[in-house]
Amino acid sequence: MFSSFMGWVDARFPATKMWEDHLSKYYAPKNFNFWYYFGSLAMLILVLQIVTGIFLTMHYKPDAALAFASVEYIMRDVNWGWLIRYLHSTGASAFFVVVYLHMFRGIMYGSYKKPRELVWIFGMCIYMALMAEAFMGYLLPWGQTSYWGAQVIINLFGSVPFIGPEIALWIRGDFVVADATLNRFFAFHVIAVPLVLLGLVAAHIIALHEVGSNNPDGVEIKNHKDENGIPLDGIPFHPYYSVKDIVGVVVFLFIFALILFYAPEFGGWFLEKDNFIPADPLKTPEHIVPLWYFTPFYAILRAIPSVAGSAFPGVLAMGAAQVLLFLLPWLDRSPVKSIRYRGPYFRWALVLFIISFLALGYLGTKSSADSTLFINNTVLAQIFTGTYFAFFIFMPFYTKYDKDKAVPERVTSK
Ligand code: HEM
Repeated sequence: MFSSFMGWVDARFPATKMWEDHLSKYYAPKNFNFWYYFGSLAMLILVLQIVTGIFLTMHYKPDAALAFASVEYIMRDVNWGWLIRYLHSTGASAFFVVVYLHMFRGIMYGSYKKPRELVWIFGMCIYMALMAEAFMGYLLPWGQTSYWGAQVIINLFGSVPFIGPEIALWIRGDFVVADATLNRFFAFHVIAVPLVLLGLVAAHIIALHEVGSNNPDGVEIKNHKDENGIPLDGIPFHPYYSVKDIVGVVVFLFIFALILFYAPEFGGWFLEKDNFIPADPLKTPEHIVPLWYFTPFYAILRAIPSVAGSAFPGVLAMGAAQVLLFLLPWLDRSPVKSIRYRGPYFRWALVLFIISFLALGYLGTKSSADSTLFINNTVLAQIFTGTYFAFFIFMPFYTKYDKDKAVPERVTSK
């Protein structure tokens, strides 16, 4: 009965073809390791955010006079409201943890290199959309950090020469962050950006399945096929990796549940303390710090000195820090993809890059006037901003002249 039903469907919609193309006959390299869990986990969190977001929207009020109280109402009075809200707020941070690890994997194994440039570009677009989504979502609880964070970031647009103040006014819809801002951020957060995200994720996967997955050895499995055209080092995604990914999901959910139930604020890293105080346009909090996933870029912004009172050079540097990530496929001139067979120049450059990214992330949470290990935070941020940019700017040279190792023809079984 099932096969005759599927025959009926397949004559009208390519259900079996899609199942085969993307799952049961999608041949993925047999040597995927730990780092390959994060794509499926990112998909899981995307679904989690959409589902919990729908339930939050049922009780949340996008009105400056009611928003804060409506979130408290969800937390205290709505049945299971606290769980839905904490799933969504913890999910947001988990999303960035997973996506940062996923991106790191891409850099480590050269997954952005030919022929996967578009997989990477779609990924970077997802990352940009995700940051916009998180930024706008953070305004919705209408607490002190929601309000002042939005004020600070929107004011950055005001630093663009000539047209800046007009752009900032246009984004806010008022002279300060106000009800109009909350309404439009709500519309973007709840529908516009999620739609874009879903479309981009679809494009990301379609592009990946067109060229095939990379792997920890960085060798193309399509170069060695059997007489039926099946890659010798490939295994069907389903059931092999669908089952493997379930292991990742179980471990992830265990860690996620620990944080969700025992430390949902995560010491102020996932939900900031000041955000439990309702927004007060007349009282600026002492320290306005974005959430942890923005702080590397926030530190770059603050590290670049203002010129004639304008923060525009810092804004440009922050933008450049993102643009350079987009350009990775063309900055990297090495014939070798995976870190396993790269020479010492790339390996050290990557180590320094990761240290600088983490250090910038830390410094972005601290006051720039203070010191860390007796060195002024601004000076430290300038040093690490230099290392961050050096990774990209010198990449065409150190990757070209690196002492890469010989890459095997077939994947290794490690
Ligand atoms: C919502 C966010 C995202 C989702 C749901 C997602 C999903 C996926 C999935 C399911 C895979 C295949 C499985 C895997 O290799 O882990 C994948 C591969 C890949 N993704 Fe993403 N991704 C996301 C964000 C990103 C971002 C932000 C980047 C980079 C800027 C990126 C770059 C890549 C690359 C380069 C690959 C191919 C890796 C390889 O074959 O070695 N992705 N993605």
